[in-house]
Order: sequence, then structure tokens, then C-alpha cells
Amino acid sequence: MSVFDRIASHYDSPKQLELAQIILNELENSLGETNEKTLLDYGCGTGLIGLPLADRFEKVTLIDPSKEMITIVEQKVESMALKNTKAMIDHFSKEHIPEITADIIIVSLVLLHIPDTKEILEALYQVLNPKGYLLIVDFDTNEKARHEKVHSGFDQNKLKAMLETIGYQSIQSNTFYHGEELFMRQDASMFVLRAEK
Ligand SMILES: C[S@@+](CC[C@H](N)C(=O)[O-])C[C@H]1O[C@@H](n2cnc3c(N)ncnc32)[C@H](O)[C@@H]1O
Repeated sequence: MSVFDRIASHYDSPKQLELAQIILNELENSLGETNEKTLLDYGCGTGLIGLPLADRFEKVTLIDPSKEMITIVEQKVESMALKNTKAMIDHFSKEHIPEITADIIIVSLVLLHIPDTKEILEALYQVLNPKGYLLIVDFDTNEKARHEKVHSGFDQNKLKAMLETIGYQSIQSNTFYHGEELFMRQDASMFVLRAEK
């Protein structure tokens, strides 16, 4: 059982719900018209980001490698009676990219947990439709937040340079929130980055 399987049943804490609302408010600024678009929420966790947005998309796919997280998403999809939304247990790699496409991909608080940043950004590029875009939400670099399995946040400029080498275009980012004890019990800031195919 992975660490995310273990935390799934108590992931939706008041603090996490508050953080998700802050992220959703910021993402709403970047989304524009989405009625005829498809959304992939990659690393969806319990669906705190993808599910509240589901009504404004034609079709939504939520993907996470944690079986327990996806079980919770499926229960929420049923209780919210979302007909356009499906959840899948999966994760992408160089060798494995499922037959799926999306106009918009959201990767919220996930990149920090994936060891090979470039590999996952390349895989997501393949899944994006032409003119589609990726929205990354993550923490700015914070050397005090150290863990062997987690990136200590990201330098927005380095991430942009990496995305450009893959082929992403019109890349923009900004820090939108500073909070206390936000990231491994350290004060931290979050950024949103938008990159088009
Ligand atoms: C901190 S949670 C974020 C959940 C959700 N995106 C949110 O903002 O509330 C991180 C999630 O990333 C998932 N994850 C970990 N490694 C992953 C990978 N290689 N590919 C996709 N998701 C992954 C975990 O299972 C977990 O559900």
C-alpha cells in the first residue's frame, strides 16, 4: 500500500479543502470558456480540484495511481451524479501512456511527488491535444522543505526552460499564494504555470 493509499480516507481535511478552494479560485482565472473542452486531472487525489470543475467541461478524466484515492473519487462521482466524468487508476511513464487525449490538463500538487519531472512533462505533452494547455500548480523552491521522495518545490524559470525544450509554448507563471506551514510544515508559496502545446 502506497503512502497515498494510506492517507486517502483522511485526505479531505478542513486545511486541505481550504487549500483546494484557493487553488480552484486561481485556476478559474486561467480557464476561460471550457464547455466543449475535455479535462484531465492528472494525480487527482480525492478529486478536490477536478470534480468541482466537472460541470464546466464536456468530458472529465481523473487519473491517480492510488487505488484508495480513485475509490473515493468514484464515490463522489456517483453522489454528485456526474455523467461526463470518469476515474482511472494509472500513471504515465516513457513506456506507458494510455490512449487518452485532453484539451486541458491540470497537475495540482503532483509534480513534486514525481521523481523524473521531464519524463512526466513529456508524457503529458503527448496526451495534450494541439492548442491544448497544461496547468501546473505547485510550490516554489523551499530548501527548508526536504524529503528524500519529494522535490523541494520548483524554480519557475527552470521549469519553463524544461517545458520549452519539450515543445511547450506561450509559457506563463506566477506565484499566487503564500501560506504558513503549507509545505512539509514550512511556510511556503504556490505558483500556477500555464503552458500550451
Ligand atoms: C498531494 S496529492 C494532490 C491531489 C490533488 N491533485 C489535489 O490538488 O488535491 C498528490 C497526488 O499525486 C498522486 N501521484 C503520486 N505519484 C504520481 C504519479 N507518478 N503520477 C500521477 N499521480 C501521482 C498521489 O497518488 C496523490 O493522489
